[in-house]
Amino acid sequence: MLSQRQIDVVKSTIPLLQSAGTAITEHFYQRMFRHNPELQDIFNMSNQHSGRQAMALFSSIAAYATHIEEPSQLVVLVERIANKHASLNIQPSQYAIVGSHLIETLRELAGEAFTPEVEDAWTAAYGVLANIFIEREAQIYQSNEAAEGGWRGRRRFRLAEKTPESELVCSFRFVPVDGGPVARYQPGQYLGIEVQPNENGHKEIRQYSLSDAWRADSYRISVKREGTDQPGVVSHYLHDQLQVGDEVELFAPVGDFWLQPADTPVALISAGVGVTPMMAILETLWAEQSRREVVWLHACERQQQHSFRERLVQLNAQRPFTQISWYREGDEVAEQLRRGTMALAGEAEQLPLADGDFYLCGPVGFMAAIKRQLLVLGVSLQRIHYEVFGPHADL
Ligand SMILES: Cc1cc2nc3c(=O)[nH]c(=O)nc-3n(C[C@H](O)[C@H](O)[C@H](O)COP(=O)(O)OP(=O)(O)OC[C@H]3O[C@@H](n4cnc5c(N)ncnc54)[C@H](O)[C@@H]3O)c2cc1C
Ligand code: HEM
Repeated sequence: MLSQRQIDVVKSTIPLLQSAGTAITEHFYQRMFRHNPELQDIFNMSNQHSGRQAMALFSSIAAYATHIEEPSQLVVLVERIANKHASLNIQPSQYAIVGSHLIETLRELAGEAFTPEVEDAWTAAYGVLANIFIEREAQIYQSNEAAEGGWRGRRRFRLAEKTPESELVCSFRFVPVDGGPVARYQPGQYLGIEVQPNENGHKEIRQYSLSDAWRADSYRISVKREGTDQPGVVSHYLHDQLQVGDEVELFAPVGDFWLQPADTPVALISAGVGVTPMMAILETLWAEQSRREVVWLHACERQQQHSFRERLVQLNAQRPFTQISWYREGDEVAEQLRRGTMALAGEAEQLPLADGDFYLCGPVGFMAAIKRQLLVLGVSLQRIHYEVFGPHADL
């Protein structure tokens, strides 16, 4: 347990960290990768170059330190990060490494402000947090291993099918090389995939949502070709180089975004490649012959980028559901087709505003705009769930 004095000291040094801005995180990562180059196989180095991950670790440690008196606030945050860590197979021994670089960074940058009392408080705060994560991650690894078809750490899979779903998105179905079954997952969850795009380069791990209902023999993910000026490393590798028969390592499915079991209506709201967890949810509901009412609103650039469009026509024929699409470009006309930016006000009658759960996935700006509109329409926060395809952001 932290003493009140330690909490106060950590809190009082947070403004110092904030004013140092990215200098402190850059120093931290450079230091860590210089001393522990093996960690470059775990961290996303493109995020390092683009600065997307910059403050996540430091600011979260500061944020958790300030929440340490309100454990109920911590639970949701810990759950999200522990799941992300589990998809990356983070191990307890790595917490000591990260912790030492954190403290040394503070010592090297904070100068005289880094008194023995500050060092003691930050070491203690980091230790408390690290233990919370280590414990929760151990539980996740344990239950993934104990599940039927489950495993711990890496498992080799072979690419069995590669199917284009639209101009930008391709599906990949992987079967275990050992021929065994694969663990169940909740529709909406994701897995970690490890590949080595360049023979002499780093290994790379990325997360991808499962995009189909569970099947005992394989997993399917669906990947957008990311970036043009700066091609996304893993998505381009999967699209352009990985061939049927090639092998990858997968970490067992995890994630805190999934379809809540209930009888109430389900509203799926996605943009672009945000269709993937929604496909898993829809396919699962159909496979289970659920009677839940479903509405799916989707936005993308144009019809050719509407992934799974033909499959959705089939599913709608099997069992009708409300489907409305927004395309920015093109001149197709259909009753449930809109142009421009998704706007909910005109669709209120088709939405389960009173009792439905709303699942959002797409760019952060898109989800933030949709969340604002849902709140205006009277949907409570507890019924809005969302997944960010990258370092987490609050909407
Ligand atoms: C929970 C979760 C679920 C996800 N589910 C899916 C999914 O179902 N489908 C899907 O397609 N994606 C999904 N993602 C996103 C996925 O994990 C990857 O982030 C995505 O595929 C991009 O990876 P990449 O290696 O291709 O790009 P990266 O190499 O990681 O690059 C990311 C971005 O940075 C830019 N960049 C790269 N290098 C540099 C540089 N040197 N300087 C500046 N910018 C640079 C690239 O252009 C690109 O836009 C999910 C992510 C999460 C966290
Ligand atoms: C108490 C200690 C730690 C805290 C508070 C912490 C916090 C975070 C946070 C907030 C994120 C972003 C999550 C998101 O995307 O939503 C993250 C991601 C990540 N963490 Fe941790 N973390 C800790 C320890 C570690 C350790 C020990 C490792 C292992 C070396 C690690 C490796 C990673 C990696 C690889 C990512 C993904 C980001 C990327 O690839 O750039 N973390 N962590």
